[in-house]
Amino acid sequence: MSGPVRELRRARVRAAAKINLDLRVLGRRPDGFHELRTIFQTVSLADIIDIAFAPGRRAEVSVEDDAGIPDNLMARAARLAMEAMRITGRVEMRLRKRIPMGAGLGGGSSDAAAVLLALPALAGGRLSMEELMVLAAQLGSDVPFFLLGGTAVGIGRGTELFPLPDAPRWPAVLVAPGIHVDTPGAYAALSPRLTTESQQNKIVSFQAHVWDLGFGKPAGNDFETVVFERHGRLPVLKKALLRAGASMVMMTGSGSALFGLFPDREGASQAWRRMAGGSGLRAEEKAYRVSLVGRTSYRSMWTRALAEHIIPGIWPPRSRYMR
Ligand code: C5P
Repeated sequence: MSGPVRELRRARVRAAAKINLDLRVLGRRPDGFHELRTIFQTVSLADIIDIAFAPGRRAEVSVEDDAGIPDNLMARAARLAMEAMRITGRVEMRLRKRIPMGAGLGGGSSDAAAVLLALPALAGGRLSMEELMVLAAQLGSDVPFFLLGGTAVGIGRGTELFPLPDAPRWPAVLVAPGIHVDTPGAYAALSPRLTTESQQNKIVSFQAHVWDLGFGKPAGNDFETVVFERHGRLPVLKKALLRAGASMVMMTGSGSALFGLFPDREGASQAWRRMAGGSGLRAEEKAYRVSLVGRTSYRSMWTRALAEHIIPGIWPPRSRYMR
């Protein structure tokens, strides 16, 4: 069968969180966004989304979630995807939020990308990966990355992507300090400190890191300076993760979550127990034991979730990225 479907179709999908293995902010652009050099990486912590589509004469979208999210980006994603497919119907979504919000883990962006990926399969509409990328960039700077998953270089606003080979499944510990960082505010605080001189150095060290991505390599997150100054608890947590045995610890995105990478699973589990149990964390702080998710696993997770809805030639979306 090809073309729009006639019956109700539903799926349960997982929307993974991301970390930034490197994040350099070069400068403010004429469009108000900042020019970035970053390495995105999906991790195993994920939100769970139930999504159902029934064809109908009008586009109707509803989202229920357990976190009271105002103006959920998933609803906008569903509307954009239906318009682009020229398909109408009822989209019902339920979100179980697992990824801490306002923490730089990309949860809201991943949820929106999950809708862009799932809806064409459920509705039988054809959208290429390139078309999905354009819709994703309209929803937010981090959304396009979640169409690919795995490890990818992001430049420009973060929407121009180049997939990298899968990194080893390094074990990691995430610490979400329960501090909600306002992303535009973090950019505004960082902006006056950016100089053309530092730009060149950042580009060179970023390129070196992409060339030789590995443990203890010169990675950095430019937001750490401004966000750590405002939230003195974050450098304390960073030190605690390092003391617990992490090979490297960085903040992700504009914060506030931190991640520590570990050379082996046992080390990560021990560190997680040390952080999560005992006196390591305050009540509002939470630690997660995760692993990095490569693009191969990310894609097979998607293929499994949508297996019964896959229509050859329609899903998975065709892409120049995937060859
Ligand atoms: O694209 P997104 O909605 O995630 O961006 C939120 C805000 O973060 C933007 O309005 C902008 O203030 C800032 N931003 C930026 N440069 C980027 C990405 C985001 O200045 N590359």
